[in-house]
Amino acid sequence: MTGITAVMVLVYFVLLLGDSGVGKSKCTSTPPYPNCHPNTYSSTHQTPVVIRYQKNEFNPQSRNTIGVDFSSGSVKIDGKIVGAHFWDTSGQERFKSITSSFYRGAYGAFLVYDITRRDTFENISTKGGWLDELRQSTNENGVVTMLVGNKSDLAGEGESLGGEGGEREEVRRQVSTEEAKAFADANGLLFMETSAKDASNVEQAFEGILTEIY
Ligand code: GTP
Ligand code: MG
Repeated sequence: MTGITAVMVLVYFVLLLGDSGVGKSKCTSTPPYPNCHPNTYSSTHQTPVVIRYQKNEFNPQSRNTIGVDFSSGSVKIDGKIVGAHFWDTSGQERFKSITSSFYRGAYGAFLVYDITRRDTFENISTKGGWLDELRQSTNENGVVTMLVGNKSDLAGEGESLGGEGGEREEVRRQVSTEEAKAFADANGLLFMETSAKDASNVEQAFEGILTEIY
């Protein structure tokens, strides 16, 4: 055995759930990499957060996810490589029967909403919403779950976004950080606000959930 270093790679499945359009996915024409290795993230259709994590870029082109897209990546925690396969599901109702069949094997889940669309938060937090559905389908509270308020770059808090011609645009945030944090605390969820566009907190969200799972 001399000269051989054994590398143990642990791989966990992580779901991305939430309404259509909240920012779970970013589809690209990037061909898939054949291997998943430390700090390499790949897939044919990548989630914005995943592609951000992998390539530090934001592609504004997008299309709705059909069924489920897959991508993978890894982080080093305590000197060990912890890998994750991300199941990026469609938020569209018509794919529910396909996407819900993936819930069972999950170790972790991101429940993603758009901070500028209140309905996307309520569809997580109300009875029968994404959180209920996740808990019912995985029949325990064993899935490490993070509530993610995406599109924080659009918050526009405390200022006019000032369109052309000086007309005042509304402040676009519809869900306060405090409200979302309180909901997360009450339900045992991790919480973060992210932007796939300006990359804020994206890496932290992935590392946070994987550290907690691990
Ligand atoms: P489904 O696949 O239909 O469930 O939607 P999705 O949640 O995967 O949404 P998607 O990632 O396709 O993003 C929808 C739109 O939001 C796209 O036009 C993205 O470019 C945009 N978007 C995603 N993340 C952000 C963000 O952080 N900020 C801003 N400003 N736009 C974003
Ligand atoms: Mg998608």
